[in-house]
Amino acid sequence: MTVVPRIIIRSALPLICVVPIGIALGAQTPAQQNSTPASAAPQTQITFNRDIAPILFRTCAQCHRPGEAGPFSLLTYADAKSHARQIAAVTKSRFMPPWLPEERPLKFADDIRLTVDEIARIQAWVEQGAAEGNSVDLPSAPKFIEGWQLGKPDVIVKATKPYALPPSGSDNYWNFVFRAPVDRTRWLKAMEIRPGDKRLVHHANVLVDRQQNGRRLEAEPGAGFAGMELTIESEAFDPDSHFLFWKPGTIPYVEPDGMALRLDRDTDLILNTHVQPSGKPETIQPTLGLYFTDKPATKHPILLQLENDRLLDIPPGETQFVVTDQFTLPVDVDLLAIYPHAHYLGKDLQALAKFLDGRSEILIHIPDWNLNWQAVYRYAQPVRLPKGTTISMKFVYDNSDANIRNPNDPPQRVVAGNRAVDEMAHLWLQVLPEISTNAKADPRAEILEAMARHNLQKNREDFEAHYNLAALLMGRGEIAEAIAHFAEANRIRPNEPTVNNAFGAALLAAGRTEESIPHLTAALNARPDYFDARYNLGNALASLGDFRGALAQFQAAVRIHPEDANAEANLGSAFAEIGDTKQARLHYQRALQLNPSNELAKENLQQLSGNPTPR
Ligand code: HEC
Repeated sequence: MTVVPRIIIRSALPLICVVPIGIALGAQTPAQQNSTPASAAPQTQITFNRDIAPILFRTCAQCHRPGEAGPFSLLTYADAKSHARQIAAVTKSRFMPPWLPEERPLKFADDIRLTVDEIARIQAWVEQGAAEGNSVDLPSAPKFIEGWQLGKPDVIVKATKPYALPPSGSDNYWNFVFRAPVDRTRWLKAMEIRPGDKRLVHHANVLVDRQQNGRRLEAEPGAGFAGMELTIESEAFDPDSHFLFWKPGTIPYVEPDGMALRLDRDTDLILNTHVQPSGKPETIQPTLGLYFTDKPATKHPILLQLENDRLLDIPPGETQFVVTDQFTLPVDVDLLAIYPHAHYLGKDLQALAKFLDGRSEILIHIPDWNLNWQAVYRYAQPVRLPKGTTISMKFVYDNSDANIRNPNDPPQRVVAGNRAVDEMAHLWLQVLPEISTNAKADPRAEILEAMARHNLQKNREDFEAHYNLAALLMGRGEIAEAIAHFAEANRIRPNEPTVNNAFGAALLAAGRTEESIPHLTAALNARPDYFDARYNLGNALASLGDFRGALAQFQAAVRIHPEDANAEANLGSAFAEIGDTKQARLHYQRALQLNPSNELAKENLQQLSGNPTPR
């Protein structure tokens, strides 16, 4: 009869980046005017057409073309020639193309890193006078699709209200809430995020909000809301997670067969954007293009997070501040993608997998972190990480003057936080657990539980870990231990309605009905339209014999969710208990209309008809 807590909280992918900091490139002299005619060039002459165009087309053009984020196009000889010295400088320093991971045996998809040889070729080309070369050598220009990258989406949704971006300021984060345009469960194979003007939007990230939490933060429907770090909730045994990340130059990722993302009716999509003022007032009104498939998901990846923000307390001048965390996998997984995240003091970011046989492998190494070019990196091939593998992160921070990106001048003490001047130490991994047919438990639940226990070892005050662990324990019927963790979560955040409801439901399930009532009431005080809490409170009051009290709760529950057969059936029972058989019959019938196999309504209705009471 009780609604089992079915909600798990996880923090959303953080997203931060701030106004880019100018990188000193040295004096930029105009490229030389009189290059040798191509036809007269000796064999060793480096030419644009033969040697340089293929590099620029592969690694620059996706951003350096009209309408994209790059400040100028790099599609023709004239384009390249007029920026030749700059190109030499930014490629030599590896500032461009923006690609942070070092070359390693594990390859990433869409790697645009330049080879040492390519960099040398660009330098030589510029030194030799940036010749054009023979037109027959010129490869055909890269073809870019105008408009939607994957063709016309099945559904396009546009933000209801534009966001008015002020002319100045930094640290602007805006969340747009999109009502998922589906009237039944659909499977999403790709999403194109069109954040709007690419000069203004630096990064964007979509979160699937199955519980419509974001909506509650909007001043009015469709208005959106501010904030960088979101906490969203999802159902305990539905922790599927996909990276839906946009940065300049991103081509939408098409999920392989079987990995589609479930989109239910009444789900919201929250687009979390980091926007950057342009000097004048601007408006931003993003759109999302959704591509569906009729192949439901058969594989369910989840996101793991390693982090150790609590250890971040970096003294000014410190050049080698190290933060680590490590997590041992309780099941076999395939690692699909990785997303390291720090702010401006982050210098050297590394993730390592250590296998049970003693071998280890670097999963990613970013030797010169730059927040402005953060990205989700997908592996070219899934990386098998067997049960027992320990994943570790080691992030090194530089809080000295020598760090050109240090936001404080002079350097200041820096601790963890959400603002750009604060720091973070997060490593996200998208893993696909191996589902073996004879496994006792859902491997995703095992991972989440191991993660929650790991987080509690690091920090007994971890609200989410207590809550998630409690929800998982509740899900497999370990009520006593679940109650202990709900109590901890409730102690840490006494007013959280989700926790009060779940805690109340657990107490109810344990037969501690009287104790459940204050929690369910608190949940409703915080959120009067909280269906689950209404329903649970109705049950609690009914089991204490307060049928009038229960009736009021079920009536309210039915107003919130008129299509819920169980609430209707319980409302019928509450009426029956106070002797109003006419109303009781009506609500049982309504319950059966909603769900013809609702047992409670069927049995009770029969009972009522069996001994008809004159009204
Ligand atoms: C992912 C998108 C992207 C790719 C790929 C890319 N650029 Fe850029 N580039 C930008 C953006 C955006 C800027 C503007 C500066 C900034 O935001 O930091 C920029 C700036 C530049 C600048 C000006 C630097 C300055 O300080 O003013 C040069 C030169 C440049 N890019 C060259 C290249 C070359 C050459 C390549 C390929 C080898 C390349 N870029 C690849 C996005 C990109």
